[in-house]
Amino acid sequence: MGIRNKITVVGAGNVGATAAHWLASKELGDVVLMDIMEGVPQGKALDLAQAAPIEGFDVRLLGSTNNYEDTRNSDVVIITAGIPRKPGMSRDDLLKTNAGIVSNVVDQVVKYSPDAILIVVSNPLDAMCQVALRRSGFPKHRVIGMAGVLDSARMRCFLAEALDVSVENVTAFVLGGHGDTMVPLTRYSTCAGIPVTELLSKDQLDAIVKRTANGGAEIVGLLKTGSAYYAPSAASVEMTEAILKDKKKILPCAAYLEGEYGINGLYVGVPCKLGTRGLEQIIEINLTAEERIALQKSAASVQELVNVLGL
Ligand code: NAI
Ligand code: 2OP
Repeated sequence: MGIRNKITVVGAGNVGATAAHWLASKELGDVVLMDIMEGVPQGKALDLAQAAPIEGFDVRLLGSTNNYEDTRNSDVVIITAGIPRKPGMSRDDLLKTNAGIVSNVVDQVVKYSPDAILIVVSNPLDAMCQVALRRSGFPKHRVIGMAGVLDSARMRCFLAEALDVSVENVTAFVLGGHGDTMVPLTRYSTCAGIPVTELLSKDQLDAIVKRTANGGAEIVGLLKTGSAYYAPSAASVEMTEAILKDKKKILPCAAYLEGEYGINGLYVGVPCKLGTRGLEQIIEINLTAEERIALQKSAASVQELVNVLGL
C-alpha cells in the first residue's frame, strides 16, 4: 500500500484518456484507465507511462478491460463511459443506453471502492448523475457532476478574449443544467474583481452568453466526429484536485438539490465547495426574478429526462 492517491477513470475515450493525461502530469495519484474495449485502455496507459520519463511524473498508470478488481480502493472515480448519439437514435434512446452503461459501471465501482467519490461526466450529465446517485446508494456529497466548470471555463475564455486580459483575471458564474438552458450570470462574472457588466456592452455580453450556452455544439460542429475533450477533461481534473488536496474550492458542479434554490430531488448545476469529503457545501445566492425563472426552466428540462428514466 502506497501513500499515493488512486484515481480510476472509466471510459478510455477522448475525455477519459485526456483526463488520465492531466491527472498524471499533475501527479495527483496513480491512475487506472478502464474501458470495455480490449487493449485500448492498456495501450493508452502504457503510452502515457512512457511519457513519464520525458515529462517527469512519478505515478503508476494501469489500463484495464472490465476487471474492476484493478480499481479497488480508488479515492476518486471519474465516469466518462458512454456512447455518442448515432444516426437514427432518438435523444431518449441515447438517454436510456447511457443510463444502462452508467448503471453497470457504478455497480462495479461501488463493489470495489465503497468509499470513493464519484465524478460523473457522461451525458446527458445531470440525468446521469441522478442514475449514479440512485444506483450507488452513496450519500449525495459523494456523487458530483462535471459541467459547470467546463461551461464557466468556456465563458471565461470568451470574456478574456473580449477584454484582452489574462484568463486568470476572469471568473464566470454559470448555473443550471448542462445544456441549452444553462444560466450564465454576467453580474456575478468578474475581471480582477470588477463585474464584467461594467466593462463590456450588453450586446457583447449577450453574444458571449449565447456562445457559452452553445459551447459544446460549436465544437461538435467543427470536429464532426466527436465532441470536446481537452476542456472537459481538464474540468474533471480540477474537481479531482480540489477533492484530493482538500482545497475547499468553490466550483460550479452538478449537485443533488434538496430544497436549495427552490429545487427538490434533482441534480442541477450550482456553486459547490469541494474538499476531502466531496461536496462539502452548496452556496446559495439570491437570484433576480428573471434568473430564478431561467434556473427553474433549466431544472424542468433535467426533470423531463429523469422522468423518462423513472428516477
Ligand atoms: P468517447 O466515445 O471518446 O469515449 C467513451 C468511451 O466509453 C469509449 O472508449 C467506450 O468504449 C467507453 N465505454 C462504453 N461503454 C462502457 C462501459 N460499459 N464501461 C466502460 N467504458 C465504456 O466519448 P468522449 O468524447 O470521451 O465522451 C465521453 C462522455 O462524456 C460522453 O457521454 C460525452 O457526451 C460526455 N461529455 C460530457 C461533458 C460534460 O460537460 N459533462 C463534456 C464532454 C463530454
Ligand atoms: C460539451 O459540452 C459534449 O457536453 C459536451 O462539450
